Amino acid sequence: MHTSAPGKLILCGEHAVVYGHPAIAMPIHALQATITSTASAPNTGLVVEAPDLGRVWHLHATAPLSDLARRTLDFLGTPEPDLALTIRSTIPIASGMGSGAAVGAALVRALAAAVGRTLDPATVSALVYESERTFHGTPSGIDNTVVAYEQPIWFQRRPQQAPLIEPLHVEQSLTFVVADTGVASSTKAVVGDLRQRWEEYAAPYEAHFTAIGSIVTTIRRLLSEPNDNLLGSLLTMNHKRLQMLGVSSPELDRLVDAAIANGALGAKMSGAGWGGVMLAFVESERAKQVATALGAAGAVQTWITRLERL
Ligand code: PMV
Repeated sequence: MHTSAPGKLILCGEHAVVYGHPAIAMPIHALQATITSTASAPNTGLVVEAPDLGRVWHLHATAPLSDLARRTLDFLGTPEPDLALTIRSTIPIASGMGSGAAVGAALVRALAAAVGRTLDPATVSALVYESERTFHGTPSGIDNTVVAYEQPIWFQRRPQQAPLIEPLHVEQSLTFVVADTGVASSTKAVVGDLRQRWEEYAAPYEAHFTAIGSIVTTIRRLLSEPNDNLLGSLLTMNHKRLQMLGVSSPELDRLVDAAIANGALGAKMSGAGWGGVMLAFVESERAKQVATALGAAGAVQTWITRLERL
């Protein structure tokens, strides 16, 4: 049996989303984490294997996937199964494309499927979030939400209540070129570093977060009242705010500049930053040209992806 979950991209609002401002994220269905489950011999327990990484996890280890498996089995009210799970993923690791959350969502689904159950997206998302919180500090919850719901979402944390999650209305298909800097980056490290600086002198950071929140709100409107030039410039404006927050990197900035110099309508880093991926918003007929330019500017991999009309 197979279960899976897609990769994701944050279109706009990363980092500010941790501080209560809205963000928009979309799944990338072309990139998937897949788990294959096979019943194993009695008393062998649960073994999770990632052959591409040369790693194996058992249920009682101190590791994010073991923690998530324990939480899921507790939630399902089922004892440890004799099950071999094999993870395969085409989502680049530590690059802001939701690899960890997607593997987590596929794992929750695999354990549920083993006892004949299908969990709704909210439950899958909540289980992955609780586990991410244990291991990754203060995640906003946007990653687990978009990979569990598998649709473009508007996401905003709210004090004392569940986050606001709304499926997005998109009036026209939008084309993006995504490029990987090839620099692995730790979300926990970047988010933690920014938090430390925010704790020392909050006001200027708050100003950037608020500005990013307004950019995101305007971008949402532009998804239903298309204006490509304005959408492009707002994405680039979001990148400049992220630069000022100290979460971009020379590699990301170089790719953003190359995309714009080669005809993209706008471009920004995506995800935690200091490495990982950036996205360029392009007219579809320019996508290949921009992808080639990004390769020449140092990207180790590029993808062309679309946010479809919904
Ligand atoms: O996991 P990444 O690299 O896509 O980053 C997540 C986005 C942040 O806003 C930086 C952190 C968060 O928890 O929302």
